[in-house]
Amino acid sequence: MKQGNLLIQVFLLAYCFGSVCVINAEDPYRFFTWTVTYGTRSPLGVPQQVILINGQFPGPPIEGVTNDNILVNLINKIDEPLLITWNGIKQRRMSWQDGVLGTSCPIQPNSNWTYHFQLKDQIGTYTYFASTSMHRASGAFGALNVNQRSVIFVPYHKPDGDFTLLVSDWYKMGHKALRKRLDSGRALPLPDGLLINGASKGLAFTGEHGKFYRFRISNVGISTSINFRIQGHMMTLVEVEGSHTLEEVYESLDVHVGQSLTVLVTLKAPVKDYFIVASTRFTKPVLTTSAILHYKGSKTRPSRPLPIGPTYHIHWSMKQARTIRLNLTANAARPNPQGAFHYGTIPISQTLVLANARTKINGKLRYTVNRVSYVNPTTPLKLADWYNIPGVFDFKTIKNIPTPGPSILGTSVLDFALHEYVEFVFQNNERSIQSWHIDGTNAYVVGYGTGTWNVAMRKRYNYVDAVSRHTFQVYPMSWTSVLASLDNKGMWNVRSQIWSRRYLGQELYVRVWNNERSLYTEAEPPLNALYCGKAKRPV
Ligand SMILES: *[C@@H]1O[C@H](CO)[C@@H](O)[C@H](O)[C@H]1NC(C)=O
Ligand SMILES: *[C@@H]1O[C@H](CO)[C@@H](O)[C@H](O)[C@H]1NC(C)=O
Repeated sequence: MKQGNLLIQVFLLAYCFGSVCVINAEDPYRFFTWTVTYGTRSPLGVPQQVILINGQFPGPPIEGVTNDNILVNLINKIDEPLLITWNGIKQRRMSWQDGVLGTSCPIQPNSNWTYHFQLKDQIGTYTYFASTSMHRASGAFGALNVNQRSVIFVPYHKPDGDFTLLVSDWYKMGHKALRKRLDSGRALPLPDGLLINGASKGLAFTGEHGKFYRFRISNVGISTSINFRIQGHMMTLVEVEGSHTLEEVYESLDVHVGQSLTVLVTLKAPVKDYFIVASTRFTKPVLTTSAILHYKGSKTRPSRPLPIGPTYHIHWSMKQARTIRLNLTANAARPNPQGAFHYGTIPISQTLVLANARTKINGKLRYTVNRVSYVNPTTPLKLADWYNIPGVFDFKTIKNIPTPGPSILGTSVLDFALHEYVEFVFQNNERSIQSWHIDGTNAYVVGYGTGTWNVAMRKRYNYVDAVSRHTFQVYPMSWTSVLASLDNKGMWNVRSQIWSRRYLGQELYVRVWNNERSLYTEAEPPLNALYCGKAKRPV
């Protein structure tokens, strides 16, 4: 079962809690065995060490269907502890499977651990990547596509073909050198290049004239936003991170770090080859990479120049972001319209304003949120919380709004009651773009604006058809507001997707809790749970 994707139909699976049983008939199981190793590749033309999964760079794609049970036995053959996170997969009741240091002990070198999670009602384009250390800068990332079960309709016809494009910025320095640089207190330089599916040249996607294709595009980079475009072709946006959008047509699209989207493209231009281009946003200089859209039968190479895209133009990007809206009549994964949830009319129970900053603590570069630069304790927060282990974290380290005072190192956890409806305001007072992610839930991105947020900004929110997604860009010297219904009990990572920022402290956890112990709201620790730090395997 090496590159294992064994599909086993399980016809009857029953979970019983007390006297109540939940029967899940025919939820299929997909088993994967993934061996993580180092290898040598030359993504920018120079050989360098990268992280491979089953010998592949990027890692193997997961093609799932809603309700699939995904089991990934991850065998760690590199010399450092490792975890992989399933970016944006909601892990209902199962923060144990989220693959971040706040929820699990890392998988030690020469050992393995099996993740088990179910893909729920989130049809769309996703990714996975290593969440530990700077591993993501060397590889260990891949595509995770969630398709709909046959009984569920999506608001577009079945495409004639599918292309998955993972766009990433790339450094010739490996993760160890990058980490050393950050540990010594220096920020990262601009990346050396951009890759599409791990390559900087020679990649071609072949389609037929007159047919239409689904392009799944993700930014799996660690530092820069990208703009994506296809020469001579318009793209119809149909989905972002599990939300089906109004089908707007774009010449080019911005995709920020950690984000994913799906577009449809009809091949109706003259039969020849065309450039597919990705270029960095908000950087000087601008890095560009290209691949080829090859029309079957074409003997004509694509013609230069490359189609141009926006480079600095922050306002352009903010305007484009506001055009991405939810199709209120489209079906979500459940057979009810995704807009039936009237997110704009629900009273907000709490507002959080999370302000990021770059600072120095003990003379070294650190990144903070509301003055706290996150440090991972040796005991995962989730285990400390479940087994009531004291001295690992408290709810007083971080304030829920910016306050004056010194910057500190700490383990930030914010506490919420299950089903609270929370307004998160990400305030970026820095001159670089931010990309914030929330695990365990999607959130409605109701507003983007420049300057400092205040309550009057709520008048400008989109309360009707904002998209719900897992990763939100925050423009330089600007704010982004999102509304989240915290319906998923657990310990959830809120992180900067800009990886040097997260590595040096820009993350925190949100604990969603109620005192009722019920398997309907949260699962027990998995039988194979790893224990470390102060957490000992219960006997
Ligand atoms: C490790 O791999 C073995 C063999 O494939 C498997 O039987 C075992 O369950 C795995 N261990 C964990 C903790 O997942
Ligand atoms: C929204 O979804 C509906 C239902 O699937 C579809 O018929 C319609 O074309 C979509 N509207 C737009 C503007 O994308």
